[in-house]
Amino acid sequence: MFAEMEERGQERIAVFAGHEVKVVTKEFWTAKQRQTSSLHEVSYRACFKPQLPRYFIQQYSSPGDIVYDPFSGRGTTAIEAALLGRVPYANDINPLSSLFSRPRISPPQLRAIAKRLGQIEYDYSKQPDIDLSMFYEKKTAAEIASLREYLLRSDKDEVDDWIKMVATNRLTGHSKGFFSVYSLPPNQAASQKRQIKINEKLKQAPEYRDTKAIILKKSKQLLGKLTLGEQENLQAVAKQAKFLNSFSHETAQISDASVQLIVTSPPFLNVVQYALDNWLRCWFNGIDAQAVAKNITSFSKLERWVHAMSSVFKELERVLKPCGYIAFEVGEVKKGTIMLDEHILPIGLQLGLSCEKILINSQTFTKTSNIWGVGNNAKGTNTNRIVLFKKR
Ligand SMILES: C[S@@+](CC[C@H](N)C(=O)[O-])C[C@H]1O[C@@H](n2cnc3c(N)ncnc32)[C@H](O)[C@@H]1O
Repeated sequence: MFAEMEERGQERIAVFAGHEVKVVTKEFWTAKQRQTSSLHEVSYRACFKPQLPRYFIQQYSSPGDIVYDPFSGRGTTAIEAALLGRVPYANDINPLSSLFSRPRISPPQLRAIAKRLGQIEYDYSKQPDIDLSMFYEKKTAAEIASLREYLLRSDKDEVDDWIKMVATNRLTGHSKGFFSVYSLPPNQAASQKRQIKINEKLKQAPEYRDTKAIILKKSKQLLGKLTLGEQENLQAVAKQAKFLNSFSHETAQISDASVQLIVTSPPFLNVVQYALDNWLRCWFNGIDAQAVAKNITSFSKLERWVHAMSSVFKELERVLKPCGYIAFEVGEVKKGTIMLDEHILPIGLQLGLSCEKILINSQTFTKTSNIWGVGNNAKGTNTNRIVLFKKR
């Protein structure tokens, strides 16, 4: 689509409908995990690394500004914005999104979490209302059923919300740090049938897990490395934070021209079943996963995706302040044959936004994966393509 004009080292100038657009490819941020806060360590399908929003938040906003993510997922932008003293606004059609993010913006003290866990009574005669015996040993299942019942009762406070967030994240996974027997990664709960097959293949049966000890340990990991400065930043912005559960093209709760920076990554063209993948997390929280799945944008046809993104952009332009920015991250899809940035660019330009540049962050990584007991090291490139717009 681009008619390229000039190539200058890492920079290229591309031309689109008479507009010159700078395309810069380099490693804008490093991938080292230890440079990010432990508070992010909650898994969610297709989440981006905290370094991505951090880069844009630091470059294009100041403390006290509103930073918004209309497709917030686990809340990576919101958490990073709050840690940096910006006011986080987050929206996602999946109700699990605010359940994961809000508690981490105003985290309780560890000793309050420990005290509350001590007060929650487990009834060992209880069992879940669906068959989860392929995931949990009987005593663990009774603990989960009791905790679920307690958390679904109304009148909950910040400590209960925190416990709910951590417990939801510990339901299934592939280590003893989770409530379940060895299963898929925590953001992709296997179906009951699939778990039975996994158990047969691995010749395994669920063992008892101490759910309260696991929740406390994970809470310590999440909160453990928060610096005093980060805690102060969170406290300063928590009351002004907004968490919406709307379609990203219908966010009347956000005022016109109020947002300084938007950093986001929409659903791409592939079919990621954000809600169905999370069926067990939805069950634990009394959420109808099928109903959520119907609302989630998932288009396999490019034209329909472009149409949906056009209505989202109209709304983003409305909420953005003059001279505010949108950093819109999209990927290469269909095996690199479709570059979504080239389709996002005209949408922004038609709304009168200027395209500052297209950033292609290219990182080499070595990934160690251990699936079904087979370890392997894979080298690869991790590419993020971000279109950066500015409102005039
Ligand atoms: C690629 S993920 C975003 C992940 C996020 N950047 C993170 O770090 O966790 C896309 C998100 O968009 C949400 N979503 C899909 N369609 C939506 C819509 N029409 N309005 C609002 N959110 C939507 C999905 O629920 C999913 O959480």
